[in-house]
Amino acid sequence: MRVLITGGAGLVGNALTRLFLKKGAKVLCVDNFSLGTRRHIQEFENNSDFDFMELDVSVPDWHKKIRGQSFDLLAHLAANSDISLGNAHPEMDKRRTFETTFEALMVARDMKIPKFIFSSSSAVYGQNPPMPTPEFSPSLHPVSIYGAGKLASEAFISAFVENYGIDAWVFRFGNVVGEKLTHGVIYDFLGRLRKNPSQLNVLGNGFQTKTYIDVEDCVSGIYLALEKSPAGSLHSDRFQIFNLSTEGATSVRQIAEESCRVLNLKNYKINYEDSPIGWVGDVPKTSLDVSKIKKCGWRPQMDSTAAVFKAIKDYALWSQPGT
Ligand SMILES: NC(=O)c1ccc[n+]([C@@H]2O[C@H](COP(=O)([O-])OP(=O)(O)OC[C@H]3O[C@@H](n4cnc5c(N)ncnc54)[C@H](O)[C@@H]3O)[C@@H](O)[C@H]2O)c1
Repeated sequence: MRVLITGGAGLVGNALTRLFLKKGAKVLCVDNFSLGTRRHIQEFENNSDFDFMELDVSVPDWHKKIRGQSFDLLAHLAANSDISLGNAHPEMDKRRTFETTFEALMVARDMKIPKFIFSSSSAVYGQNPPMPTPEFSPSLHPVSIYGAGKLASEAFISAFVENYGIDAWVFRFGNVVGEKLTHGVIYDFLGRLRKNPSQLNVLGNGFQTKTYIDVEDCVSGIYLALEKSPAGSLHSDRFQIFNLSTEGATSVRQIAEESCRVLNLKNYKINYEDSPIGWVGDVPKTSLDVSKIKKCGWRPQMDSTAAVFKAIKDYALWSQPGT
């Protein structure tokens, strides 16, 4: 199998690349390093089944740079995954979250790549969906620009499936965590605590409680769904949507305390705000119904809090100054 991965230098891209290589696939990753880093792909550099190109996949016709190659599957992961940044600069999500998807779909169509994987998000459900939220939730009203970019992307994928004979798997992730973070609450807290070990100012009251998934569990879910998608989901069995996260949840307060503990801090103060949300567009509680992906036989190795605590430990080591 030949696999093309956009956003391959990111957190999920790194783990998905490793998994496909382990399964015997040939992998070409493309990334523009806007969030991911070259260090994230270093481990594959001597693998003859791996190739990398630095490319901006929001640019029309980027596939001309890889003309002549053929692929069985395109996994489109490139996006602006930093939600609060996208709310401050909406054009960022238009370009990096939506237009990258449109251009990736055009690549799948023009290069006749039959299978398309998309990394969507629980952010498509917005503020008050039923919980745990099923894939067929009636509430698809995103409150972040990022969530809007993901939902618009899903709509285009649905239409490309119908028009151009592509099979698509859309995964609405919870918060994915692991060693090679590029953004998010753990990345943020550890970075800020290293600059100022005596104080941590938290956005919101810290009771925001979200569902987290370890990146290895996330990519194993993607792989299993590809192999065993049950037929007859939302539109047709050629357009599959899966929630992908753990069933539990973890609070920002737990993450703040554990970050201080892992950094061995003794005299510190964590300051919380009064607001129940961290920023406009933040969704303070998430919980996903994952029964559909479980029907494929998927069982996560870690629950939400175990995934978070492992990621704090691993990312603290990975990002140690001087490494
Ligand atoms: N990590 C999460 O909690 C989470 C949750 C829900 C959905 N997702 C989605 O899953 C995907 C992977 O997430 P991640 O955590 O690995 O994020 P990430 O930021 O680590 O990886 C995304 C990668 O895309 C690259 N990229 C961005 N714009 C690009 C462009 N125009 N051209 C080429 N490369 C570009 C970045 O450099 C980065 O390496 C993203 O689409 C993200 O939105 C992530």
